[in-house]
Amino acid sequence: MQNKKLVATRKYADPDSKAARLSRQARTVMPGGNSRTTVYMAPYPPYAAEGQGCWVVDADGDRRLDLLNNYTALIHGHAHQAVSEAAARRLARGASFAMPTPEEIELAALLAERVPSVEQARFTNSGSEAVMVAIKAARGFTGRPRIAKFEGAYHGSYDWAEVSLGSSPANWGPLEAPASTPYSRGTPASVLDEVVVLPFNHARLAAARIEREADSLAAVILDPVPNRVGLMPARAEFLAAMREVTAKHGILLIFDEVISFRVGYRGAQGAFGVYPDLTTFGKIIGGGFPVGAIGGRADVMAVFDPREGEPAVPHGGTFNANPVTMAAGLAAMRLMDGAAYARLDEMGETLRSGFRACLERAGASGAITGMGSLFRIHPGARTFVDYRSAVTDGAEKQRLERLHRALLDHGVLISPTGLGCLSTAVSEAEIEYFLEIVNHCVR
Ligand SMILES: Cc1ncc(COP(=O)(O)O)c(C=O)c1O
Repeated sequence: MQNKKLVATRKYADPDSKAARLSRQARTVMPGGNSRTTVYMAPYPPYAAEGQGCWVVDADGDRRLDLLNNYTALIHGHAHQAVSEAAARRLARGASFAMPTPEEIELAALLAERVPSVEQARFTNSGSEAVMVAIKAARGFTGRPRIAKFEGAYHGSYDWAEVSLGSSPANWGPLEAPASTPYSRGTPASVLDEVVVLPFNHARLAAARIEREADSLAAVILDPVPNRVGLMPARAEFLAAMREVTAKHGILLIFDEVISFRVGYRGAQGAFGVYPDLTTFGKIIGGGFPVGAIGGRADVMAVFDPREGEPAVPHGGTFNANPVTMAAGLAAMRLMDGAAYARLDEMGETLRSGFRACLERAGASGAITGMGSLFRIHPGARTFVDYRSAVTDGAEKQRLERLHRALLDHGVLISPTGLGCLSTAVSEAEIEYFLEIVNHCVR
């Protein structure tokens, strides 16, 4: 392959660049110049100026193919006309009210219509809040205090959901009973006691641990395509076992589909044919605006029902179901029909197989995982099963950092951890562009 399209996009790295100046200014008023841990890059990141479709232009004028889409939130890329117009139309009539609006009913109806396990839904402002509210609903419904989650899985920033997120060989304990490790300094020991950690994709081990702890468990929370665990789709028999053991003990099964809802018309649960009691949503359902949602069985969702006085689980939120998000989300989701998902699936497959071919040609070690429009690049080659097999450190981590930087400096945006995704704005030409740059960078 010739590198005819190879470009340099590293103006931001110049000490006199706009990004350098902005980051110096930012550091005076924000800790480390940062308001979102995920977007930090040493010594500072490029700053975004504007985006159109699958391209983003930084403050120094460099243009990159955006294969991160605000960490998977933008299913149509940037500034999609129908989505922008829907948001602008709603904005012109007022952005938030101390009253519900019709738009929230329409987006709840869309989720209920598409996802068989969702009878009722309710909105939050982020995926983290959706997870928090789902866990509180499970506690309120079952009267049990603890939850179980999978080692390494990310579910946002609620204390209980953060447990074991950064486990390492030094503290992760035995696979059959992974240790509950703190992620943020200051996490109370009581929180660690209230979270049972399970090994992802190990049906027998996880089910056995759930059986042992069943009496105290309100919920098992599970992301069927967990990014930080390595973005391997869950094994079918594992999901079936989790469904069975939770149902047997009256434990609610929560699927966190904040990211994975983009893998199919009915989300990952539709693709796998395994349905939870509750689902958390976020990212794509807001059309690029802040959003989260929780949906599920009507009898469980009744914990939020205020008609008989104070609900079992009160859930306020000044900006819950804000109509601009609802309008943009509706416009974005209505464009996602079966054909749109099929096209994304096909392009995701093309990208993953093309990436593998680049590695093979270069004789470089590495791997790519993912499903549908999602992909994750790994610096080492092995069989990815669970968090422990996907975790990288030392030399592998440095290789991934180098690849990320090389892509960033040659016109492609993915996450520093190797996560990427496609939007409907991408065509075969952009995938070819990406593979050409990968081909250069892996060499
Ligand atoms: C699976 C999963 N759950 C929850 C969250 C939290 O969502 P938010 O960043 O909107 O709070 C994320 C964010 O990336 C996520 O990937």
